[in-house]
Amino acid sequence: MAADIRLSDAIARVKPSATIAVTTKANEMKRQGLDVIGLGAGEPDFDTPENIKEAAIRAMREGKTKYTPSDGIPELKEAIVAKFARENGLTYKPSQVNVSPGGKAVLFNAFMATLNAGDEVVIPAPYWVSYPEMVLLCGATPVAVPCGADTAYKLSPEKLEAAITPKTKWLILNSPSNPTGAAYTGAELKALADVLLRHPQVWILTDDMYEHLVYDGFEYKTIAQVEPALYDRTLTMNGVSKAYAMTGWRIGYAAGPEKLIGAMRKVMDQSTSNPCSISQWASVEALNGPQDFLPVFRAAYAKRRNLMVDGLNQAAGIVCPKPEGAFYVYPSCAGLIGKKTAGGAVIDSDKTFAAELLEQEKVAIVFGEAFGLPETFRISYATSDAALTEALVRIQRFCASLS
Ligand SMILES: Cc1ncc(COP(=O)(O)O)c(C=O)c1O
Repeated sequence: MAADIRLSDAIARVKPSATIAVTTKANEMKRQGLDVIGLGAGEPDFDTPENIKEAAIRAMREGKTKYTPSDGIPELKEAIVAKFARENGLTYKPSQVNVSPGGKAVLFNAFMATLNAGDEVVIPAPYWVSYPEMVLLCGATPVAVPCGADTAYKLSPEKLEAAITPKTKWLILNSPSNPTGAAYTGAELKALADVLLRHPQVWILTDDMYEHLVYDGFEYKTIAQVEPALYDRTLTMNGVSKAYAMTGWRIGYAAGPEKLIGAMRKVMDQSTSNPCSISQWASVEALNGPQDFLPVFRAAYAKRRNLMVDGLNQAAGIVCPKPEGAFYVYPSCAGLIGKKTAGGAVIDSDKTFAAELLEQEKVAIVFGEAFGLPETFRISYATSDAALTEALVRIQRFCASLS
């Protein structure tokens, strides 16, 4: 009999990533020769800008290919300090900066460094799939707070107040949001900050990954900027993956109080060590170099967002709000629940809707339950206009075929 390994209790608590599962399934179907349109992956379809690639090549030629300090080279920390000052009006010292192998690793290192059994982490839902799973992996308790379309998928001060207990350690804010694209205005953040000021035990982890992807002149703000009294208990996290089309390079970063940053470095010292040295030099160029491609990316995404919102609202039974940012739309499919496909299958959930849409029309989306809000789904529009146009034809046809 083959030997079997007993897995850890920690891993038993964790679900696999639904977004990675959808992407894997869509890619598998493509390999079988099926004409699948993948709208599951949260990844820019643009290539990394040339000046950033050149910086990486230069770094390699110059032999910058060795270990670096675990939480980042001084040059990148300086570039991050300058970015926070320039774009967010936030003052940090390099000793307050962490660089990790991707935004995901920043979050994981922060949780690993701070969470204990019994600690609670407040997570507005719909949420990015990895937040609750990371909290569980670190032995703490995620507390999802449903924030539906009625509040534009945003956390209200009342809901925040009701979710906080003496055990609350962190609140996670993510603006613009993955999966909904919703972004908080300065006034909305200030209203949340007023609640947080009454609860000094709560720390704030703000995931600003999609900061640069906001449309229609939306004025981006982050919470430590809006309420400086929260600066000492906020970890402001960001990264190069989404804005600079650098998902594969694996660089994320954050700034916050030195004690927290030091604990995160200790996690890295004893686990991953430094993020790739070459990627760090490329990120110095991303942050310090020309930023002129950002409006180009932004304009392309804004156009696609409008295309998707209009097209989805024309599909029978679907209601799609217009998000402020990111590259996702997050429609409701509540109007389709209970309907039947031409083949007789009952659409009893968003999960069945997504499965039938993939099966019948070869369009891959991610069902809303994965993000903690059923009867909804997420579409990533970071793909070509032609693919999006064809996807809309298929989605509209599928919805019209339901009875
Ligand atoms: C909200 C949010 N935070 C963090 C990340 C992680 O980014 P990275 O690829 O840099 O790990 C993602 C990526 O999907 C995201 O959507």
